[in-house]
Amino acid sequence: MDSPVLTQLFRQLFRHPACQSLRRQPPSLSRTQSRSFLTRRTPNKRKSQDDGMLWTKRGDISKDIDKEYWSYPTVTAKELRNRRERPRQVKMLTREFIDDSLYNPHYGYFSKHATIFSPGEPFDFNNIEDGPAFLRQLGQRYIEFEDKLDETTPDIARQLWHTPTELFRPYYGETIARYLVSNYKLTLYPYHDLIIYEMGAGNGTMMLNILDFIRDTDFEVYQRTKFKIIEISPALADLQYKNLLDSVNAAGHRDHVEIINRSIFDWDTYVHSPCFFLALEVFDNFGHDSVRYNCRTEAPQQGGVLIDADGDFHDFYNMQLDPVAARFLRVRQAAARQPFPSPLGPRVLRGLRNARPFSKEFSQPEYIPTRLMQFFDVLNQFFPAHRLVASDFSSLPDAVPGLNAPVVQTRYQRKTVPVTTPFVHQGYFDIFFPTDFNTVEDIYRAVTGKLTKVTSHEDFVHHWAYIEDTETRNGENPLLSWYKNASMLLTV
Ligand SMILES: C[S@@+](CC[C@H](N)C(=O)[O-])C[C@H]1O[C@@H](n2cnc3c(N)ncnc32)[C@H](O)[C@@H]1O
Repeated sequence: MDSPVLTQLFRQLFRHPACQSLRRQPPSLSRTQSRSFLTRRTPNKRKSQDDGMLWTKRGDISKDIDKEYWSYPTVTAKELRNRRERPRQVKMLTREFIDDSLYNPHYGYFSKHATIFSPGEPFDFNNIEDGPAFLRQLGQRYIEFEDKLDETTPDIARQLWHTPTELFRPYYGETIARYLVSNYKLTLYPYHDLIIYEMGAGNGTMMLNILDFIRDTDFEVYQRTKFKIIEISPALADLQYKNLLDSVNAAGHRDHVEIINRSIFDWDTYVHSPCFFLALEVFDNFGHDSVRYNCRTEAPQQGGVLIDADGDFHDFYNMQLDPVAARFLRVRQAAARQPFPSPLGPRVLRGLRNARPFSKEFSQPEYIPTRLMQFFDVLNQFFPAHRLVASDFSSLPDAVPGLNAPVVQTRYQRKTVPVTTPFVHQGYFDIFFPTDFNTVEDIYRAVTGKLTKVTSHEDFVHHWAYIEDTETRNGENPLLSWYKNASMLLTV
């Protein structure tokens, strides 16, 4: 039922050349620069019905949407959860649109086409010549993995990506396990069990690798280990359970594992026990709000999207911030230990820039991690004795325009296609953000009152991995060199 729309959509995308990409795709697969044709834009600026007092359109839309803006209801991702069809004749805040696009159980990205690559057998790094040879092997395994999937369930829009957990299995899982067990033994053992929560567990590989490691290295701790996954996607929760049952150690691990198919934002159980809370490559898909600033007054406006009767997207800005975005800006202002980046640029240059003729009225959008702040609320409220172990991208190339802006990309016939706006056909695009670890660390501290450490992925791995496991014959080490743009946030 989606396919005529999709075919047309992808045809449009592929008429244009594309750009280099980033995470989750083997670098051997080339791409071309692409432009989105999914939002309509015209250069003319229009005035809104109420003289811009309440909301300001971006000024680059082709259709006057004043009437629709006032008559369409504002909906949230939660309200759309039971809808099987993508919504029309509604408006949504940016974070709600992103959440709906990624997580709607019927058409969301994580429920339908998203597949996390699994290499099957671990890579034998010590017998691979060098980095490029590893890349070639990875490219080959990608093809084999997808060929196998196509035999049973062909999907031209399959969204396939990889994570360090999968590429470096079991070594990355063992690295995290060493960190967990050492910290557990230092501070909690023998008074407490080792309780590990993992939010967003993908294929469940981290869980298996951690449990295997603990069982093999410290059976006494293993007997006291509980591993609980909190997973929003029903499809991935099923896969995690299947992979658990298929694993050679299923019989032993089963009693240690609980898979809870729920969004962390629906969590309602108080966990008083000390626990570790893993969040690996989950923050990046959390919904963000978009905010732009008046260049003269510096007043913020909050972004959203209106979806018209034809399903076309029109982005808009509202001068009134909703309570979540307003709170984020307040908390950030109060918690920041150092100046945080702004799309208005450095404070000292702002006056000069505004004095120039033809200076712009509004800044580029800034994407603020409002859902992440709400996740810290959940930790604070329900997991008061948690210790967070989070890893994510600190920067991403080829993002859409704006500060802290996401990469928005889809995959069609095994090719990655980046686009230039998050407001695209829901469910077919991965929308993922970099994390500004300095700011996020301050917000986490302010919300939870805990002390933290931010470290690069590379330093963390140096400290906790047996790095010889992932060294190629010429001494290169992809586990160290591949994730230069990733960092970790740890509760200390
Ligand atoms: C990019 S994948 C990372 C998977 C895994 N951590 C890894 O590194 O291989 C993101 C995972 O987070 C899950 N997820 C995203 N938002 C979530 C939420 N609000 N609550 C629970 N799980 C969530 C997704 O379904 C998916 O399993």
